[in-house]
Amino acid sequence: MFLVTGATGDLGRRLVRLLREREMPVRSFVRLNSRYAELENRGSEIFIGDLRRERDLHKACQGIQSIISAHGSGETSSDDAETLDYQANIDLIDQAKAARVQHFVFISVLGVDRGYEDAPVFKAKREVEKYLQASGLNYTILRPSGFASNLLPLAEQFRKTGAYVLIGDPLSRSSIVSTDDLAHLAIAAVSVEGAHNQTFPVGGPEILKREDIPHIFSLIFNREPFLLNPPLLALDGLRSAIGLFNPKLRSSLGTLRTLLANEFFTTPAETERLESTFNFKLETLETFLRRYLEV
Ligand SMILES: NC(=O)c1ccc[n+]([C@@H]2O[C@H](COP(=O)([O-])OP(=O)(O)OC[C@H]3O[C@@H](n4cnc5c(N)ncnc54)[C@H](OP(=O)(O)O)[C@@H]3O)[C@@H](O)[C@H]2O)c1
Repeated sequence: MFLVTGATGDLGRRLVRLLREREMPVRSFVRLNSRYAELENRGSEIFIGDLRRERDLHKACQGIQSIISAHGSGETSSDDAETLDYQANIDLIDQAKAARVQHFVFISVLGVDRGYEDAPVFKAKREVEKYLQASGLNYTILRPSGFASNLLPLAEQFRKTGAYVLIGDPLSRSSIVSTDDLAHLAIAAVSVEGAHNQTFPVGGPEILKREDIPHIFSLIFNREPFLLNPPLLALDGLRSAIGLFNPKLRSSLGTLRTLLANEFFTTPAETERLESTFNFKLETLETFLRRYLEV
């Protein structure tokens, strides 16, 4: 049986959906207050708990063969990167070992190894990667770039107004990954031998400039884009102001700033390694969006 943490998240829902489509047994780790009816309806076992409580992690790991750690504190959440992205994963790895789990898939983040000092989520994930690699567990680490599903609300907004807000440099590059492809790879990592004890950067098949995104929307909706392009300095100003009354949120915004100020793309060689190891063709952003936007 699979255990999926973050099962109600963008990635987690897709993991559970895919596992159930393949009639594979899965236990979804969810909070009582989250929206998990869809997971239950698909036939997932539901485990109610809090990832910050070790006894919940202990119980959730019983009878599990594979874990996919897909939870997170989110880039701007005031929930602590330290408790959720770091400690909950460290405890989960310990409990996985104790329960003799056979494979642990960790969803990290692209660029985690670049030493961004101002990004608590990146620092937490890097430390978890090291802990997992030294744990003796059979593992796969996936380091995804930004998820295509993040763009769905922006696309819906664009459909209505034609407007697109692009913060920072329009020429900055990224290789946005299909969230469905990532779910497929995370599940396949357990059975593909070449993925065992390996770390993979995971991006989409194309390197896009930020300014390409409204143009893709424009193609899909057949509508001229109206671009708003505030400089990154605008976020810095906001961050300083927030810092005066909420230092914790200011620190969380450091991760968002890191994401906006840097480029996150996978090289053609990395994409080739991923596709050949998994014998899988990654889909483009446009293909992903068209499937969800029904155009
Ligand atoms: N989104 C991206 O572009 C991106 C890019 C690179 C890497 N990643 C990584 O990919 C993974 C999945 O990302 P995502 O955007 O789908 O999800 P996410 O926003 O990072 O995580 C949200 C999930 O974690 C759960 N969660 C939060 N606190 C919890 C707690 N105390 N106990 C139990 N569950 C808790 C949430 O449950 P509730 O429903 O109860 O809130 C939700 O299911 C994360 O590790 C993220 O860091 C994301």
